[in-house]
Amino acid sequence: MDLRTAIRTTGSVRTFTSQPVERETVVQLLDDARFAPSGGNGQPWRVAVVEGPVLRRSIADLMQPVWDEYLEIRAAGGQPYTVVGYDVPATITPNKPNALLHDIESIPVVMVIAADLGKIAMMDAELDRAPMTGGGSIYPFCWNLLLSARAHGLGGVMTTFLSRREPEAAPLLGLPPDHALVATIFLGYPEHQPTKLSRHPVSMFATLDRFDGEALR
Ligand SMILES: Cc1cc2nc3c(=O)[nH]c(=O)nc-3n(C[C@H](O)[C@H](O)[C@H](O)COP(=O)(O)O)c2cc1C
Repeated sequence: MDLRTAIRTTGSVRTFTSQPVERETVVQLLDDARFAPSGGNGQPWRVAVVEGPVLRRSIADLMQPVWDEYLEIRAAGGQPYTVVGYDVPATITPNKPNALLHDIESIPVVMVIAADLGKIAMMDAELDRAPMTGGGSIYPFCWNLLLSARAHGLGGVMTTFLSRREPEAAPLLGLPPDHALVATIFLGYPEHQPTKLSRHPVSMFATLDRFDGEALR
């Protein structure tokens, strides 16, 4: 598959066949992912490949309420967890179905990605809004991992719900000081690989000269 096709057709996979993924394959994926760019080439990534079923259950139990709240807001037409005017819903129905969390013990690969904050230049940390730039030094690594997975016939999804429970997850995972939990990535051989992705056209998000300029066509 050529690079452009891979970029345009790598959709999220959340259900997997029972075929295991060899540990050697996981190492190969990480060996590809490490070529990601990062600010100052700081390479802040740390990866815990979580195999123990008890530990997997513990992190799934942390993620479940985050998922419940997410769906509650989505159902009400809101944007969950935005830092711009997010109101916690008054009531949250617990234990909404989520195959990744329900079946976490049997998912072929579960890995938690952390970022060493000491290796990230957070250029917008002092601004009067949530900092964003640091993520740019870690999420290309996560996306490289998913593209490499695709090249190996695997599929998966990047998730961030564990980050919301970082204080509780950190001791379970042995997260070092000054590290952030940035993603939990689930991988396996896809039951179905979605390739038709729903994305906005260029003219909806690109403009000439200024962000209030004429739409780019
Ligand atoms: C930063 C980031 C965080 C995400 N967090 C979650 C998550 O917590 N749970 C989940 O199921 N999917 C998560 N996703 C996957 C998105 O839902 C998915 O990329 C998006 O809906 C587009 O899906 P598609 O590529 O299949 O079209 C996340 C994706 C990104 C890039």
